[in-house]
Amino acid sequence: MDENIIQNGDFVFIVLDPKRRWLAQAKSGEEFHTHRGIIHFDDIIGKSYGICTFSHPHDSQGYKFYILKPIPSDFILHMSRKTQIIYPHDAGLILVYGGLRPGSKIIEAGTGSGALTCILGSYVRPNGHVYSYDIRAKSLKQARRNIKNAGLDDVITIREGNIVDDALDHKDIDAVVLDMPIPWAAVKKVKKYLKLSGSIVSFSPTIEQVKKTTFALEEHEFFEIKTVELLLRDMQIKRNATRPDSRMVGHSGYLTFARKIKNRENPYRGIKPQKPEFVEMDGMPLRRDSDD
Ligand SMILES: C[S@@+](CC[C@H](N)C(=O)[O-])C[C@H]1O[C@@H](n2cnc3c(N)ncnc32)[C@H](O)[C@@H]1O
Repeated sequence: MDENIIQNGDFVFIVLDPKRRWLAQAKSGEEFHTHRGIIHFDDIIGKSYGICTFSHPHDSQGYKFYILKPIPSDFILHMSRKTQIIYPHDAGLILVYGGLRPGSKIIEAGTGSGALTCILGSYVRPNGHVYSYDIRAKSLKQARRNIKNAGLDDVITIREGNIVDDALDHKDIDAVVLDMPIPWAAVKKVKKYLKLSGSIVSFSPTIEQVKKTTFALEEHEFFEIKTVELLLRDMQIKRNATRPDSRMVGHSGYLTFARKIKNRENPYRGIKPQKPEFVEMDGMPLRRDSDD
């Protein structure tokens, strides 16, 4: 089967202009209604992705729509959702800094609407697997639909479960990805499932969460712990006015990464005296009494 030909039942990305774009399932005999006319799926099924089609009725509407094959970021931004989803740029960094690749075995919590789950699933294909957990049955219902629509049910298993409290049966996992309110509470538990040198990745909107997670990772002897924030600026390209867009997403969240290691004391080198963590303020000029 030619993957570049639109098949009956495929998800297609319908683009009118930079702001108006939709993800829809092309079904023979069915229509997609927009405020700029109606797309007949029979006009595009059997044709190549990348074509244009014109809205019906042609004489009163006749607008041009572009039909693209959806890529992971289209699924993320346009899939139905109830929870806050991860942005594609953060998902990209999770894949690269988390060391994920085709064949990886991943645990994820929570599933939410399944946006990040779909990205992970599309990267570990065909031999890897994503085991995704969420405590809310309602989220899982929607995630299941989104995962099926993305055609990823063979590489993703989603289950109702609590990553902190439930005993889950996993071992030799390459990476654990956490997007949940209290990731620090899961650190001890998920360390058991990870293989040595495996990664843990945590996405959190606030620094308070990041600090708690980092301290938990330190306590459980994770290595290469680091946190980053990624800001993405769209560029406006015009002949004589090229500059960053005036609007942007100011903050999505912080990403914390760490690796599992088996630590050992070094028997050959003495231990350096530890530096104090806080600056001693007593006796500093700013603390002098006013009558000085
Ligand atoms: C922000 S949403 C995740 C969004 C998801 N990454 C996406 O892209 O759609 C956080 C989810 O974590 C789930 N959650 C919270 N605590 C959990 C736990 N202990 N175990 C599993 N899931 C949990 C919540 O039910 C919620 O659906």
